[in-house]
Amino acid sequence: MAVTKDEVSEALRGVLEPEIRKPLVELGLIGEPINAWGGKLVVPIGVIADPLPYEDALKSAVLAALAKANLASKNDVELRGLSDKELVKLRNLLRPASDSDSQTVANPIGHEQGRSNQFMQPGSKTRVLGVSSGKGGVGKSSTTVNLAIALAKKGYEVGILDADVYGFSVPKMLGITRNPLLVDDLMLPPVAYGVRCISVGFFVSDETPVIWRGPMLHKALEQFLVDVYWGDLDFLLLDMPPGTGDVALSMGQYLPKSEILVVTTPQPAAQRVAQRSAYAARQLKLPLRGVIENMSWFVGDDGKKYMLFGEGGGKVLADDLGVPLLAQIPLVPEIRAGGDDGVPIMASEPESEVSKAYDTLATAVESMGPARVYRSELKVKS
Ligand SMILES: Nc1ncnc2c1ncn2[C@@H]1O[C@H](COP(=O)(O)OP(=O)(O)OP(=O)(O)O)[C@@H](O)[C@H]1O
Ligand SMILES: [Mg+2]
Repeated sequence: MAVTKDEVSEALRGVLEPEIRKPLVELGLIGEPINAWGGKLVVPIGVIADPLPYEDALKSAVLAALAKANLASKNDVELRGLSDKELVKLRNLLRPASDSDSQTVANPIGHEQGRSNQFMQPGSKTRVLGVSSGKGGVGKSSTTVNLAIALAKKGYEVGILDADVYGFSVPKMLGITRNPLLVDDLMLPPVAYGVRCISVGFFVSDETPVIWRGPMLHKALEQFLVDVYWGDLDFLLLDMPPGTGDVALSMGQYLPKSEILVVTTPQPAAQRVAQRSAYAARQLKLPLRGVIENMSWFVGDDGKKYMLFGEGGGKVLADDLGVPLLAQIPLVPEIRAGGDDGVPIMASEPESEVSKAYDTLATAVESMGPARVYRSELKVKS
């Protein structure tokens, strides 16, 4: 008996396009099956790029689902690049014209108007978390990446926007070595460990010093929010550049529901600098939600805890800002090694002590729920 398209579609119902993260069936990517000689079944699948970087993963997911449904003794998958016309159709399915750039918002830096994005919509369910710190090197990016994976492991849809124009490092930490694919004019964030990622690093070469400031930075952030298919995110994490500057200002405009997490190391100097970035966020009316203390201690071979960078800075800062200390992350060489190798510790050693600390952080973020944003302009009319 010939296998029909309906039977194939039913069997493949749970198979997702890996970077759009929606079922192939829903996206209309399954073609008419070919019942070949000798009981062989060939299933054509439309793909957004040819060659497809994640071809093997997609093929094996499809084959596994077909085998599970006992559809034929010999299955084969044929990947076929979509035509330009089909890509436009898919783009319109992902982002209906009415959702896109029809609305504009005022730009706080230039006089030009900016384009609104999905995260500004009143009904948006996405919590936007800006991970900031006063100074560099305290562990913002490692925290962003491992927190993102911890949230994804809890079943949330998570994206990272690496907005650190001075020291983008998220793709490397996630082991992403290629640029985003395009569905017509819509950018598709590469996915690693269940986390979508867009980075300034995709748009500049390593040798180019990034001197984006003010309006240019604002424009770039706008593009990362409007021209990217982020899907239905539960969390969007932003790795912010160190300091108090322009990105926070643009976030206030384009991501008005952003919540800020501050990363600090335990010593008083780091804590004072972190405090300045926290005050800046407050001036922009971005709610501070908590402090993360990184490199809190190191456990030696003798099993003793060594407080290499002093003690208590995270708690002092949290108390001072009137927010909770969400987690203390120990100093372990595996965090650095995981970052360098593109396999974060949360993925490679999920049961380790430090991964449990990231998990605690994810649970704290989850359980405190979104911030209530008070905006003086939103008054109830009397
Ligand atoms: N808890 C930790 N234990 C061990 N190494 C860590 C820890 N946290 C961060 N590191 C390492 O310290 C270095 C700096 O961390 P990271 O890049 O996360 O900081 P950052 O604040 O994002 O820095 P930058 O300002 O350069 O962007 C990295 O090599 C990272 O792997
Ligand atoms: Mg960084």
